[in-house]
Amino acid sequence: MQKTMKHRNLGRLQVSAVGLGCMGMSHTYGATADKREMTELLAQSVDMGYDFFDTAESYGTQADPHDNENLVGQALKPFRNRVVIATKFDPATDFRSTMPQFASGSFEKNRPLFALINKFAAEHQATPAQVALAWMLSKKPWIVPIPGTRSLSRLKENAGAADVEFSADEVRAIDDALDGMEMSDVFSGLK
Ligand SMILES: NC(=O)c1ccc[n+]([C@@H]2O[C@H](COP(=O)([O-])OP(=O)(O)OC[C@H]3O[C@@H](n4cnc5c(N)ncnc54)[C@H](OP(=O)(O)O)[C@@H]3O)[C@@H](O)[C@H]2O)c1
Repeated sequence: MQKTMKHRNLGRLQVSAVGLGCMGMSHTYGATADKREMTELLAQSVDMGYDFFDTAESYGTQADPHDNENLVGQALKPFRNRVVIATKFDPATDFRSTMPQFASGSFEKNRPLFALINKFAAEHQATPAQVALAWMLSKKPWIVPIPGTRSLSRLKENAGAADVEFSADEVRAIDDALDGMEMSDVFSGLK
């Protein structure tokens, strides 16, 4: 049965409050993903209410730069009238190994951040990932996070972030804590 998710406006587009980043479905981290499983996962995501998908030419493989676009396009073809697919040409290459948040020592530096996230997770009966996504959603009505996953349980978990709501006081408390907190650098800049 098809579920619905809250929606947000991106310009003239109306899309699910949480989208699905598809970069990891081709190759990006570790082993190449199984195409049949990813096709099934994409169909399940539509069933769950996702209708905003992110792909790009650069998420493909060396052998086939369009691998990811083709995978997403083929899998979502049956739902073409009810989904939005964002793609782009020639964005910067992604290398997780160069991301400072994954450098040695960063985990220790980020312990206060994890404690903060876990505190709000416990208070909202949410997971840490849902807290991070819900905080992003709280920032602007036109922000639509696009977490990627190859797993059905995380697909459900990430969709559930759209139902975790923080009060203005809670957002302020998180922001104040973040402002005064030591943490590692992150990809694309400082905290
Ligand atoms: N990072 C970039 O440079 C970049 C650039 C342009 C566009 N994008 C777009 O943005 C999307 C998101 O990029 P990203 O760098 O954040 O991640 P990503 O490459 O999509 O990978 C997400 C990672 O987070 C894990 N994950 C997903 N949900 C989780 C949860 N609830 N709890 C714990 N782990 C979870 C996934 O593991 P499992 O698969 O095992 O769940 C995966 O390892 C991409 O898919 C792409 O569409 C990214």
